[in-house]
Amino acid sequence: MSRVLVGVSGGIAAYKACELIRGLRTREHEVRVATTQNALRFVSSLTLQALSGHAVRSELFSLSQESEISHIELADWADVAIVAPATAGFLARIAHGMADDLLATICLALRAPLIVAPAMNVNMYRHPATQANLDVLAKRGVRIVGPDRGELACGWEGEGRLVAVEELLGAVEQALDPGTYQGEVVLVTAGPTAEAVDPVRVLTNRSSGKMGFALAEQAARRGAEVILVAGPVGLPTPYGVQRMNVESAAQMQQAVMDALDRATIVIMAAAVADYRVAERAREKIKRETQDVLTLELLRNPDILAELVPRKGGRTVVGFAAETERVLENARAKLERKGCDLIVANDVARQDTGFDVDRNAVWILGPGGNDVVEVPAAAKQEVAARILDRIRQVRDA
Ligand code: PMT
Repeated sequence: MSRVLVGVSGGIAAYKACELIRGLRTREHEVRVATTQNALRFVSSLTLQALSGHAVRSELFSLSQESEISHIELADWADVAIVAPATAGFLARIAHGMADDLLATICLALRAPLIVAPAMNVNMYRHPATQANLDVLAKRGVRIVGPDRGELACGWEGEGRLVAVEELLGAVEQALDPGTYQGEVVLVTAGPTAEAVDPVRVLTNRSSGKMGFALAEQAARRGAEVILVAGPVGLPTPYGVQRMNVESAAQMQQAVMDALDRATIVIMAAAVADYRVAERAREKIKRETQDVLTLELLRNPDILAELVPRKGGRTVVGFAAETERVLENARAKLERKGCDLIVANDVARQDTGFDVDRNAVWILGPGGNDVVEVPAAAKQEVAARILDRIRQVRDA
C-alpha cells in the first residue's frame, strides 16, 4: 500500500478529485487530501474526508489542522503527490516557489514525485505565462498529465479539460513504481472477440476486458512499453498504453502476429471465441423467414498455440478460464499450448472472473507443479502479482 497525497485546487474539475480519491482507495492506496481554500468552493471538505478516510487539510495556519498532521509531516508522509485539478493560478504559484497557502507550501517541501493535472480555460492554458510555468515545472521533474481537448465548462472548446480519472490513476501508479519492466515490450490481449452472424448480430462472451486492461496498466506503470490488443470493450485506454482495437478472433490473431516481433513478453488474457460463423449473412437475417435458425460454426485459430513455436526468447503467458477441475485442466492447457506460465481462474464463480472487478487466480509454472495462488483481490492487484511472477521467471 502506498501513500498518495491528493492536492485539489479551485476549478470546476475539482469534483473529479472525488473519483480520483475513490479510485486510489479501491487500489488500496492510503490517501490524504490537501486543498486550496478555493477548491472548497467547488467540493466540500466533508465529501473529501468521507472518501479519503482522513480529515482534509486546507489551511496553513490552523492550529487544529496542524496538530492533526503538520504540513511538513504531510509532505514527508507522501510517496507521491498529485494535484488534480491544477489551476493556472496554482501552477504559477508553484512554478515560482511560492509558499503562500497550504498546498503550495506542501509542494515546496515535498521530496516525493509530484504530478500536476492542469485544468482551465483554453486561452488561460495557451497563455505564454502558463506555458512558461509548465516548462519550468517540467524541467524540475514535475510530471504534467494533460490537459485533454474538448468542450470546456466555460463554454469554450479546446485544450483545458482535466484528463480522465484512469489516466490520473495510471500516472500515480507509474510514479510509484521503480520500473522493473524497463526495456520490456509487453503485448497484452484483452476482452472478448465478436464473431459476426449478420450485419447486426455477433457471437461473443462475457469478458469485460478488465483483467487484460489491468495487466496492461500495471506493466506500463512498471516502465514497459505496452501494446494492448483489445476486443470490443468500452474501457478507457490505460495511461501510456498503445491500443489496437479488434473485433473478431481473426483480427486479433493478425494484430498479435503483427506486433509479435516487437514484444518481449506476451500475455493472452483475451477470451477469444473458439468458433466463428461459417458464412456471415450479407443482410440482416429476418426472424419472419425461419422458426429455427441453424448456424454452422467453424473452429477459430488458436492464437496462443500458434505463436508459441515463434516465441524465441519471449515469455509467453496464457490464461485458462475453467469452470471445473481448475488446476487439473489448467495443467493440461499449459502442456498443450506450450506457454511458459498459465494463469488459471474459476469462471464459474460470481464474485471473481468474468465481468467483475475482482479475480482469484493460480499461476502455474513450467510442468504445472510450481503453483502460486493469488487469492481474491482487485484485478489491478492480481495483475501486479502476475507481473511479479513473470519478472521472476524472466530473471531466473
Ligand atoms: O475480461 P474480464 O471480464 O476481466 O475477465 C477475465 C477473464 C476471465 C476473461 C480472464 O481472466 C481469462 O481467463 N482469460 C482467458 C479466457 C479464455 O479464453 O480462456 P481459454 O481457457 O478458453 O483459453 C486459453 C488461452 O488460449 C487463453 O490465453 C486465450 O487467450 C487463448 N486462446 C483461446 C482461444 C483461441 N482461439 N485462441 C487463443 O489464443
